[in-house]
Amino acid sequence: MITVHVDTPGGRYPIHIGPGRLDHLADSLPADTTSVALITNTTVAPLYAARVERALARTGKPVVRVELPDGEVHKDWQTLNQIFDALLQNGIDRQAVLVALGGGVIGDMSGFAAASYMRGVRFLQVPTTLLAQVDSSVGGKTAINHPLGKNMIGAFHQPVAVEIDTDALATLPDRELSAGLAETIKYGMIADADFFDWCEASVDALLRRDQEAIITAVRRSCEIKARVVSQDERESGVRAILNFGHTFGHAIEAGLGYGEWLHGEAVGCGMVQAAELSARVLGLPRADADRVRALVDAIGCPVRAPDFGLRRWLDLMRVDKKTRGGELRFVLLPAMGRAEIHTVPEGVLADVLEGTVARESS
Ligand code: NAD
Ligand code: GLY
Repeated sequence: MITVHVDTPGGRYPIHIGPGRLDHLADSLPADTTSVALITNTTVAPLYAARVERALARTGKPVVRVELPDGEVHKDWQTLNQIFDALLQNGIDRQAVLVALGGGVIGDMSGFAAASYMRGVRFLQVPTTLLAQVDSSVGGKTAINHPLGKNMIGAFHQPVAVEIDTDALATLPDRELSAGLAETIKYGMIADADFFDWCEASVDALLRRDQEAIITAVRRSCEIKARVVSQDERESGVRAILNFGHTFGHAIEAGLGYGEWLHGEAVGCGMVQAAELSARVLGLPRADADRVRALVDAIGCPVRAPDFGLRRWLDLMRVDKKTRGGELRFVLLPAMGRAEIHTVPEGVLADVLEGTVARESS
């Protein structure tokens, strides 16, 4: 087992990474836990919930299962309220721990439920998608979507631990694996050029889920994310670099309707667009922008964005937490492995959008 530490004002906690971690979740429950609410969904429950319940039952604490509908479209008030209904109906008290078993949607919603139930209870992240293992389970961002914007309602709330069972990825659909690889290669682009090189060289191993390659990718991603959020828990500065590709990506998700493209697919395409913008605004070498496009393509994510038209693109992108006084700000790469936040001239942005959207061939 590998352990990576996160150290923020909101909490210091371990990330445990390795095969078989689902059987050891009891190790991460605080000693004074009164009961456990296992929050999962209708896809993950038949695969892993009984096993996790057995592991948690070893603590002797009661375990209540809360099974939610699956999908990004359900990351909303109605589903969040289902969690609160179940917690209240089952008498879950303030010393309880919520266990989030699933992908980023379950992790984000359970975390927000934990942040607000009885003004805050503890929660344990047990991510079962690659995207959640390399990104969403770490760092304490929790949220639901609003029809007008992605992750717009939420809170910072750190988990007591993150338990990553890399074996759980065996059942993940290929498309979800590709979406998770998009967030994985992001870390190379923004913080570690050697890791980007390694991802390029390891793409086949990653796509065939070679255990050693997957563990290396998850560990390096968690190390980089842990370092960034430990420096800036609340995104007042450096943490925003983790949003590379997300201004474009969130616009794609909202513009097409949540769930049409997977979050990771939208981010993958958004990184291609952000790399193009970096080449135009900061002089990122063309060869590096091309490498970004080639790697996003190689992991199986789209590299051409939907054609919403300039006006709608700008409206969609303005609903972004980095926007200040109506002015769009982008995470850009001055060089491979480094990231900075910049405003950009609208004309350049328009050119980049024009050059990166998919056009019907006539
Ligand atoms: P997801 O949670 O929708 O999971 C993808 C699909 O895989 C779902 O159908 C899920 O039920 C299924 N699944 C999960 N584990 C499985 C397994 N082991 N085997 C088979 N199927 C499995 O999507 P995601 O990509 O994990 O997460 C995306 C969400 O994460 C988005 O809502 C995004 O906004 C959020 N996110 C949050 C942060 C953060 O810092 N909090 C960071 C990145 C993304
Ligand atoms: N996924 C971006 C962040 O955690 O800050």
